[in-house]
Amino acid sequence: MTADSRQIVFCETPDDVADAAADLIFESQTEAVAERGVFRVALSGGTTPGLLFARLTTEEWRDEMAWENWEVFWSDERCVPPDSPDSNFAIAKRLLLDRMPIGEVFRIRGEIDPREAAAEYARTLRARLDPGPPVFDVILLGMGADGHTASLFPGQPALESASLIEAVEVDQPVRHRITFTLNLINRARRVIFLVCGEAKAQRVHEIIHENRVQLPAARVDPAPGECLWLLDHAAARKIR
Ligand code: 6PG
Repeated sequence: MTADSRQIVFCETPDDVADAAADLIFESQTEAVAERGVFRVALSGGTTPGLLFARLTTEEWRDEMAWENWEVFWSDERCVPPDSPDSNFAIAKRLLLDRMPIGEVFRIRGEIDPREAAAEYARTLRARLDPGPPVFDVILLGMGADGHTASLFPGQPALESASLIEAVEVDQPVRHRITFTLNLINRARRVIFLVCGEAKAQRVHEIIHENRVQLPAARVDPAPGECLWLLDHAAARKIR
């Protein structure tokens, strides 16, 4: 598989990654609102996006975005209550949702049965994302040191799913999760990876230089949509 959509953006620090992501989001939201009146974005989990969420609330950005036209979703969620410190929603709520007048928020209900939550979210996506296959303007993603992305881990059957959403059990501290599938991720107009830290450098090398397609993050290729990899200096160490 070629990675036609993949573009690398070399940044220095994690804050520079957040800045670059904010610029790209502004560009996408401006086009989406102008063309369709709505900007649909799926937020990622983990710790890295927190820098971006905080950046979006600073003076430079908070008055630039058409927040009332934003519809916010999640590319994955842990099966925990929405006020759990492990909840991806909880992190975004604290750093962004409680601070900006966002139009509509579509939380994955991590507190209910995982299969019910997955089915419910798939129904929400189909209902909200216009007729035809659900297409996001932006899907944010991170990457684990093992090459996982969203909650798609190496060797998981969910990687081959033809569905939009899957409930998965993973070998992580929070075992049960709801995740976008590659089938959904690869329909996006723009995917933005935010990857920072030395621990990611080897997998970044394997994905960018060796295109090891068995790694979930390597299989994100939304062509004709774009796939931008925003890397800090440490994560890009082996490909510079
Ligand atoms: C999750 C994320 C996951 C994350 C990576 C990177 O719910 O944990 O979706 O895929 O993006 O594990 O996490 P960090 O940004 O914390 O390194």
